[in-house]
Amino acid sequence: MTHEVDFKVPEKEDFDSPHALFAELRSHCPVAWSGDMGGFWAVTKHADAKAVLENWQMFTTTVQNVVPRVATTQRRPPLHLDPPANTPYRNAIQRFLTPQRLADWEPRLEVMVARFLDPWIEKGGDVCENFSFLLPIALLAEFFNLSPEKAELIRAVGAEFNMALQRQDFDTLRQKSDELYDIAADLIADRHANPRDPDTDPTASLLAVRVDGEPLADDLVLGALRQFLLVGIIAPTTFIASMAVHLARHPEHHAELTANPDLVPDALEELLRLYTPYRGFARTAREDTEISGCPISKGDPVAIVFTSANRDEDVFPDPHSYRLDREARDLLTFGRGPHMCPGAPLARVLLRETLKQITQKTERLVQTSDIEMTNWPEYGPLSVAFDVVKR
Ligand code: HEM
Repeated sequence: MTHEVDFKVPEKEDFDSPHALFAELRSHCPVAWSGDMGGFWAVTKHADAKAVLENWQMFTTTVQNVVPRVATTQRRPPLHLDPPANTPYRNAIQRFLTPQRLADWEPRLEVMVARFLDPWIEKGGDVCENFSFLLPIALLAEFFNLSPEKAELIRAVGAEFNMALQRQDFDTLRQKSDELYDIAADLIADRHANPRDPDTDPTASLLAVRVDGEPLADDLVLGALRQFLLVGIIAPTTFIASMAVHLARHPEHHAELTANPDLVPDALEELLRLYTPYRGFARTAREDTEISGCPISKGDPVAIVFTSANRDEDVFPDPHSYRLDREARDLLTFGRGPHMCPGAPLARVLLRETLKQITQKTERLVQTSDIEMTNWPEYGPLSVAFDVVKR
């Protein structure tokens, strides 16, 4: 079905322009059709975003789970399966993210953040290339008990995958996706050959799952591992860079956190609201329906624009300002409903430690380059350089 076009996806964006566009859409056309990237609805209001995410009976993830659509041949649970089929995959990983396990991660993450942050503080330069891209890969490598060689391979392939995604070079994207599948397949073969305790190894945990007495299908375990190996890398990379841009623009906020590190948890929540790194996770309508009165046709892709919902003036007064005294913090940064990010608690520990160390170890960040931005489905810098003034 053809729709009247409500907005164009801009060819070039800067750090602020997406927020201006989304504010305009929220006020004039909160559920907006774009004819770009294959055609999709952008859901920009907080309440609508939540309603779509929670209504998985109407809006499925099995057809297209990001805008722009990346054609893939294989399903990657849990994101590509609707409830209840996605649940065993989530449970197999969530047992590694209990409060006790997270408490064990805190001292490890303190060391890991310092290992990658300190060289960037010494040298300055591109925060993505020299720091924020390296850190989440190191975390995932430890989380999955990968060898240093495998971690290095994922770093290299993940970087090329991300670049291909940003440039919308779909041939390279498919090739790099296949390479990530090969890495996941090797990991599974290794765990079959050298069994590990499902209580300490996430891959062994996935292999140990039984549903009605049967193990999970091999191709779906492979897809799940491939999903986990990449999904947690891109958002922290761009988000950490957004935090650095904010601190450079607001030396007064930097100084306040340096003087009072107890404010870091609240500051992180506010930054996760202001610079939400995902805007293009998507669903597809199973039937003709509507969102807040806007008619949606069966088969239409619907992007849930988290980056916009978190600046919705109906939920967050003075939405573009950094304020540590907010009462309502109903953030959609990590999604909602049956696919809500299972990695969120771990990501928060990582990001809190990062913000704390940056503001404790540096006096000031001075931005020295333009910001090269990511594109849909992400928001945030792909590259931005700083001079770092040490404390
Ligand atoms: C700043 C960091 C992160 C952000 C903002 C983020 C955000 C999100 C969002 C919004 C979703 C929901 C997608 C949807 O509903 O379509 C999601 C899903 C997911 N995230 Fe994260 N994530 C982050 C870090 C991580 C990390 C570190 C991990 C791994 C340890 C991870 C693993 C996953 C997985 C496996 C899913 C799919 C869950 C499912 O379909 O049931 N994420 N993430």
